[in-house]
Order: sequence, then C-alpha cells, then structure tokens
Amino acid sequence: MFAVYEPDVVGRPLAVTVRPAEVTDLDACAALAQQRNGGESDTWRSRLSVELDDPERLLVVAEIDGIVVGHAGAGWLSFDPELADNVKPGWYLTGVLVDPAMRRGGIGSALVQARLNWLDARTDCSWYFASAANQPSVDLHRRFGFREVTRKFTVPGVEFTGGVGVLSVRFTAGAR
Ligand SMILES: CC(C)(COP(=O)(O)OP(=O)(O)OC[C@H]1O[C@@H](n2cnc3c(N)ncnc32)[C@H](O)[C@@H]1OP(=O)(O)O)[C@@H](O)C(=O)NCCC(=O)NCCS
Repeated sequence: MFAVYEPDVVGRPLAVTVRPAEVTDLDACAALAQQRNGGESDTWRSRLSVELDDPERLLVVAEIDGIVVGHAGAGWLSFDPELADNVKPGWYLTGVLVDPAMRRGGIGSALVQARLNWLDARTDCSWYFASAANQPSVDLHRRFGFREVTRKFTVPGVEFTGGVGVLSVRFTAGAR
C-alpha cells in the first residue's frame, strides 16, 4: 500500500519524462493502480478515464523509455457540505503512484512538480491530503512546501489507512 519508510536510503536519479496522460496510457495506469490497491483493472481504468475527460482535472504520466512507470492527478474538488468536515473546495493534488521497482529515482518528485506547475497557473493555494501513516508521501510533499493544516477533517468517500489523515496546504509566493 505505502512505500516502506526508509529516510536513510539514497536514491538514484532516473531519466523520466512527465506528460499529460492520453487514452492509450489508461491500461498501464490501471495496471499500476490495481497492483497497488487491488480490485479490478477495469474499475481503475474507468475511474482514470473519468479523470482524463474532466476539463478541471489533470492526469499526468511518468514515462521511461516509452514505458509508463507512474501517474498522478490534480484538479478542482468540491465536497458535499453535509458529509464533509473541515475541508474546503479548492485545487488539490489527487494522488500519485510510482511503480514499486522504480521508486527513489525522483519520479514521484517529477510527478508532483508537473502538477504544481499546472496548479500554480490556476491558484496560489494548493491542497493535498494523505494518510498520516504514509510518511514517504508526507516527506515528499513537504519538500514542495506543503505544510500540515489539520488531522481533524473528513473528505466524503475517503477512508484513511490507519484512520488518520493529514490535510496540508501550499501557498505560492505572494499568497497570504
Ligand atoms: C510516495 C511515492 C509516490 C514516492 O515516489 P518516488 O518516486 O519514490 O519519490 P522520489 O524518488 O521523488 O522521492 C522524493 C523524496 O520523497 C521522500 N521519500 C520518497 N519515498 C520515501 C521512502 N520510501 N522513505 C522515506 N522517504 C521517502 C524522500 O525525501 C525522497 O527524497 P530522497 O530520495 O532524496 O531521500 C511512492 O513511494 C509511491 O508510489 N507510493 C505508493 C503510493 C502512495 O503512497 N502515494 C501517495 C498517496 S497520497
């Protein structure tokens, strides 16, 4: 589910390209999602396809030698006020996944940077949430300026592994 937390490991940079996803990438993205999360590949493909078709969403893929080795999303999220607690509608990073065999090579960072470039053109305030137990993800995003806001919040439809999530925000320079 999460990468094993190994803060002392030194990664080796990989020559990765990040680009907007295309329909032809969906099978590879779904296979990565299925490998990580279980469930049916077709279900993941349908979800990713919805993301791809949404004009307020960005789906990017990381590619090495023509092979998709990761994907990530971003976009505008709004929540049912009856079910949500302590979360605001806004521009969010919506998940990042790197092939386990390719981790600690800078691919996750490249996927974060590509989406922040896209978000920064739309807002001076980007949000991200993750399980508090996912320390590799928390560390990764902290490097890009995300700072914890609260652990007391509810995103409808999201259950955090371990029961606790971390909601974080990043302001660009000049934003209050
Ligand atoms: C989190 C994830 C995307 C990171 O991808 P990655 O390609 O390994 O990330 P990077 O190589 O760019 O790592 C950048 C920094 O993040 C931190 N980091 C990433 N993985 C880490 C790990 N396993 N342990 C400790 N720190 C880690 C480190 O600070 C790292 O810098 P360093 O390698 O110079 O020490 C990847 O582990 C993954 O796909 N995990 C499963 C899916 C997931 O948890 N997604 C996040 C859900 S919100």
